[in-house]
Amino acid sequence: MTYTMHTDGGSRGNPGPSAIGFSIAGPDGLAVCEGGWPSGVGTNNEAEYKALIWGLENARALGIDRIDVIADSQLMVNQLNGVYKVKNEGLKPLFLRALDLRRQFAAFSITHVMRAGNKRPDELLNQALDEGNPVGAFKVPYEVEAGLFALEEEAIPMRAQGDEVPADYVPAEADPAVASVSDAAGEAAASRTILAGVTGCIAAYKTCEVIRTIQKTAPDVRVKVVMTEHATEFVGPATFRALTGEPVSVDLFDEAGAPIHHISLAKEADVMLIAPATANVLSKLANGIADDLLTTTALATTAQLIVAPAMNVEMWRNPKTQESVAKLERDGAIVVYPESGYLSCGDVGEGRLADPAEIAHAALRELDLIRSLVGKRLLVTSGPTHEPIDPVRFIGNRSSGLQGMLIAREAARRGADVTLVTGPVSLPDPAGVETVHVETAEQMLAAAREAFETCDAAVFCAAVADFRPAHAADQKIKKVGEGDGSVELSVDLVRNPDILKTLAAEKGDRFVVGFAAETADVLSYARGKLVSKNADLIVANDVSNPSLGFGTRDNRVWLVDAKGERDTGVTSKAAIAELVIDEIAKALRC
Ligand code: PMT
Repeated sequence: MTYTMHTDGGSRGNPGPSAIGFSIAGPDGLAVCEGGWPSGVGTNNEAEYKALIWGLENARALGIDRIDVIADSQLMVNQLNGVYKVKNEGLKPLFLRALDLRRQFAAFSITHVMRAGNKRPDELLNQALDEGNPVGAFKVPYEVEAGLFALEEEAIPMRAQGDEVPADYVPAEADPAVASVSDAAGEAAASRTILAGVTGCIAAYKTCEVIRTIQKTAPDVRVKVVMTEHATEFVGPATFRALTGEPVSVDLFDEAGAPIHHISLAKEADVMLIAPATANVLSKLANGIADDLLTTTALATTAQLIVAPAMNVEMWRNPKTQESVAKLERDGAIVVYPESGYLSCGDVGEGRLADPAEIAHAALRELDLIRSLVGKRLLVTSGPTHEPIDPVRFIGNRSSGLQGMLIAREAARRGADVTLVTGPVSLPDPAGVETVHVETAEQMLAAAREAFETCDAAVFCAAVADFRPAHAADQKIKKVGEGDGSVELSVDLVRNPDILKTLAAEKGDRFVVGFAAETADVLSYARGKLVSKNADLIVANDVSNPSLGFGTRDNRVWLVDAKGERDTGVTSKAAIAELVIDEIAKALRC
């Protein structure tokens, strides 16, 4: 049985008085153990490790040997997954102890899930911080999902507070694989520059948090800020100067010794991140207008452009803005889509700047600092298939290929070698992905079979036509009634091969992800497909809502596997791509 543990650690001041919190739940969602405890004086990162260690020790004490950890610290997760090197001497013993504990589990994974997860550990640690007293660790039955906390039974005494590494603790040797990947990532981080563009929007203050998250996660990355003049009305350049330790640029001609300032900034950038991006700036970027330092630099840079829009809901919904965003995305920019909620203008709806952690994460991913899939090969099928009726007509469906393309792109960004086999779509081929274009299900099967041979994981996202005309006419079929006077036309159909089922039947140790598009009984059909198609994971969409699924930007899916299901809620297809690739990375133990 696999348990899920949420952990959180924090300090008031960095370093400052710290506390830790964790909660462990079984597959039924009921918490079996949780705790909140002061952990002396330390840094935030130390507290995050202590929360993990304390939780793992308690899990072992309870006899749990399979656990999925969801931690609140991206840095710690990346360090434990071997993406970042542990440079801070103070963290090393904690890191080694966590590695040591990890080895004591038959199955262990650790992920950082943004904006998801349960808030219970937060509450527990805050209570411990506020009161300075242990909240205690108890075996408690309560609904994690509902957030109820009914202490019905004080159960087993807990083993350790986890607040100090025992003096007699002998750390295990670091995993050499982890160390080597970490070293490489640490070196990669050095000398990389994120150019953070800030535009005139009330959300400009959140850019400070984006920058802090980048700095906390990847301390070696340099962040430079360029602002529009309007942005300076919301946050002063001095704030960004203090945060980054770098000069802040506003005017095209403001840096002595750099007469072509926009060009020097453009060349320095490895990633250009504009957050928040106003409707005005999005429109200028989409149309190549360059009339200030920020837009001129964006036009001049060859670095990956990332935009995080923020604005009033009606401005966001305006077709002109939507056109600009779509154009930027088509041209290769990464869009971190705004969230829905209360807006500063008093309206409610989409337009609120995305979570700063999500924005920071997008930039770091582009710097290849999250490359857990290096050395792995992935196959992704995507888009519709077109089954010819005659030379001009076909049987097809509404799949745009976006979801599959985003999955392929996400895997490639994390370092995998990806083959995307796609039916006819009007999307550009994703950068760094070997893209094979096909028309029919039979062609898709042939191309997928070839890539499947050598892959470590495969994602079958294509909306394959289940049937094809038994015979495709050589000539265009004439209108019914023309020529022979008949009023009906029927096309005989034959079954197409089921690509997923055919290949997954011989999957060996490959991790296979299927999709299921359903209009009713979504979960029960998905569970059926998990078994009948021999998949390890089914991504189930309810396509009865026309604004989700086929041909849309957003989707809502359930990740269904042998352990149960997880609802993503309505979210962007890009976010779903990340979740799917997270699952693959976990399964391949990357
Ligand atoms: O392309 P977008 O516009 O971005 O939309 C995304 C999507 C809605 C197409 C995608 O999220 C999705 O649901 N893809 C699967 C659609 C589908 O055909 O589902 P299905 O339930 O019919 O098929 C189940 C699984 O078997 C799928 O993994 C499918 O790829 C696979 N299959 C189905 C039939 C067949 N002949 N061969 C297959 O491999």
